[in-house]
Amino acid sequence: MLPAPNLRAAFDAEDADRYDLHSRHLNHQMVRVLKTIGFDARFVRGKGAHLWDAGGGRYLDLVSGWGVFAVGRNHPHIAAALHSVLDADLPNLVQMDVSPLAGRLAERLLARAPWLQKAFFANSGAEAVEGAIKFVRAATGRTGIVHCEHSFHGLTYGALSAVGEKLYRDGFGPVLPDFREIPFDDPAALERALSKRDVAAFLVEPIQGKVVRPPSPDYLREAHALCRKYGALMIADEIQTGMGRTGRFFAVEHYGAEPDVVLLAKALSGGHAPVGVVLMRADVFAKTFDRMDKAVVHGSTFAKNDMAMAAGLATLDVIENEKLIENAAAKGARLLAHFKTLQKRFDYVADARGLGLMLALELGDPKSLTLRGLWGMLETMNKGLTGQLVTIPLFKDHKILVQVAGNGSRAIKLLPTLTLDDDDCAWIERGFSETLEAAGQSAGPVWSLGKTLLDGVRASRR
Ligand SMILES: Cc1ncc(COP(=O)(O)O)c(C=O)c1O
Repeated sequence: MLPAPNLRAAFDAEDADRYDLHSRHLNHQMVRVLKTIGFDARFVRGKGAHLWDAGGGRYLDLVSGWGVFAVGRNHPHIAAALHSVLDADLPNLVQMDVSPLAGRLAERLLARAPWLQKAFFANSGAEAVEGAIKFVRAATGRTGIVHCEHSFHGLTYGALSAVGEKLYRDGFGPVLPDFREIPFDDPAALERALSKRDVAAFLVEPIQGKVVRPPSPDYLREAHALCRKYGALMIADEIQTGMGRTGRFFAVEHYGAEPDVVLLAKALSGGHAPVGVVLMRADVFAKTFDRMDKAVVHGSTFAKNDMAMAAGLATLDVIENEKLIENAAAKGARLLAHFKTLQKRFDYVADARGLGLMLALELGDPKSLTLRGLWGMLETMNKGLTGQLVTIPLFKDHKILVQVAGNGSRAIKLLPTLTLDDDDCAWIERGFSETLEAAGQSAGPVWSLGKTLLDGVRASRR
């Protein structure tokens, strides 16, 4: 008999080699990035909002696996749910039967969106977007998909066709035809795009995730009214904003919008079992599955698997039981208020924005000429590099893991777990104030950090 697997031991045994292994067999450019910015900390443990490095140092994680750990890392209730699936010998993925767990999860998610009646499960965010594109095309008999500049919807071909950043598309074309890009938060542009009446749907993130951009208060409601006027559907991509992150279960609730299709993924996984879902009106669903011989016309082998469904159910339990939506609202408001004071204090902080625990602090142009010189040089070398002048000291000196928002942006983005407590908030407030204070001093450390970044970027281009 094989010995019982011990993944902790396997992880520890390979630990010293992790960056070499990745450089050899996986994404060597990612290893380069980590080493250049000094994020090669070799994390060995995660719990709640925190990560630990090999030396026992505790870090506050404001990336949360790009938003999957809404309930915190390794939550015991999620782990217990997954153990109980494995222990129960359930008849998983029979395919020629239907799963009670999927039925129950669909019911609980739809209870959060009472204007929708049907759910379709997928294995990831991008797969949910792919499904939505098919559903809306089938439902309307039209092909056009309107999306926004700076949008992000995933990197498979359908989703990629709706991504508003060139970097992700360059070299991979052609993407799907009939995708049209308009500015975000611009109802007139949307109306022009819809007016030919050949658009199946407007696909939009309620708050743009890459740059953390909330819309004007009426935009989403107006957009939906325009879609109705021209016979198009509206798809809200809540893959990043959903499940309580913004202080409501769905971000569209802040704006009084009830889109025809709503997408979730990321946080629904509890951080453990990849999953995505398309929630939609019954009539939208019905056009795809309109005959018995089309019962499997769209789907995916692993969708609705018991681990994913159990993770989704357990995640909803935790969100409700621990009042994480209320916590996201309260802690988000506290942090945003603090960032607004930083904006007043430092001339090189141009903006602080966001909703709930989806926040951004954007750097601007410093008044000091010396600082302007250094920042300008960094920006010329690589647009967005100045943001790393803040993320690197936050990591090194304050043990805060945070990222620059989107490609070429100068915004620092916070997407933490929804479990942040007052100590975590104080940690963030202290870390950001001290780091921004230091970033404004043109002497010593900032220059040497700038030089390290420039050298790193130059080396990566050789
Ligand atoms: C708004 C949004 N949509 C879709 C996706 C794609 O999700 P996935 O990475 O699970 O494919 C993401 C991922 O970051 C996202 O933020």
